[in-house]
Amino acid sequence: MGRLSVVAVAMVVLLAVASVGGKKKDKEKVCDKGWECSGSKYCCNETITDYFQVYQFENLFSKRNAPVAHAVGFWDYQSFITAAAVYEPLGFGTTGGKQMGMKEVAAFFGHVGSKTSCGYGVATGGPLAWGLCYNHEMSPSQSYCADDYKYPCTPGAEYYGRGALPVYWNYNYGVLGEGLKVDLLNHPEYLEQNATLAFQAAMWRWMTPMKKKQPSAHDVFVGNWKPSKNDTLEKRLPGFGMTMNILYADLVCGQGFIDSMNNIISHYQYYLDLMGIGREFSGDNLDCAEQKALNPSGKSASS
Ligand SMILES: *[C@@H]1O[C@H](CO)[C@@H](O)[C@H](O)[C@H]1NC(C)=O
Ligand SMILES: *[C@@H]1O[C@H](CO)[C@@H](O)[C@H](O)[C@H]1NC(C)=O
Ligand SMILES: *[C@@H]1O[C@H](CO)[C@@H](O)[C@H](O)[C@H]1NC(C)=O
Repeated sequence: MGRLSVVAVAMVVLLAVASVGGKKKDKEKVCDKGWECSGSKYCCNETITDYFQVYQFENLFSKRNAPVAHAVGFWDYQSFITAAAVYEPLGFGTTGGKQMGMKEVAAFFGHVGSKTSCGYGVATGGPLAWGLCYNHEMSPSQSYCADDYKYPCTPGAEYYGRGALPVYWNYNYGVLGEGLKVDLLNHPEYLEQNATLAFQAAMWRWMTPMKKKQPSAHDVFVGNWKPSKNDTLEKRLPGFGMTMNILYADLVCGQGFIDSMNNIISHYQYYLDLMGIGREFSGDNLDCAEQKALNPSGKSASS
């Protein structure tokens, strides 16, 4: 009898420990929103389909299927949302509430639109209406094959620019393929055959730090990143400008107000306007004209 009650007490103690452990674990509430977002605290917030609909996508990229465009029929809303479903549980478009989510989508598209535009000054609808005009580089000027022991070029494969944030060079296809678990080193052409994959690749780039202990473009945009003393000294501060620093480094940043930088900003603001947020909410540190590159020269993954 005495023995049994000792066991019983022991069990009660164990149960108590277990339930404390359990409580600690689910203190962070997670939510399920079906196929689009599940198993994450970010899914408790509004998801992208809650605030970004087909008509808005059509509005942002209104000229992409014009007869003179170069990827007619390729890009569509469904591919974007299907790709986003992979990253929404990690916070893409789901961090910090609806307005931040919409701004992040506009920022992401600002890069994508600028990099895939075929709009020029006199284009109908204006130069900013032509995002997603391309899905690959039209006349590659070189082979984009560099010696790389880890990601050697596959004979016959070509590593010219492809995708929504164009990927160039064998080593960049190699790193990206590893990140997405798709054999892009042997099949770089997948990026111009599959719009979901192309969007996914661009989101991977947006969401993934290029080096350990560095922030991703997502992090610096949504406010997950605190600049160090060095960062502040070199004018790297949270905001849209820093996303350009991470994605293009000194190809775009630290050179004053050059066209390539202004063009990306213009797309971002154009999308903010069209989405009904308005460019007055572009945020602080919009440009990177004075910023030193976080990873100086060359090996930024989308160049
Ligand atoms: C969800 O949105 C609210 C604002 O509506 C925000 O305060 C909160 O941080 C968001 N949750 C996450 C995980 O970002
Ligand atoms: C396109 O890419 C997506 C994402 O990687 C994949 O799930 C899908 O099966 C691909 N579609 C085709 C036709 O290969
Ligand atoms: C700060 O920058 C200086 C000069 O660029 C460098 O030597 C130093 O290692 C940096 N410190 C940190 C903490 O990154």
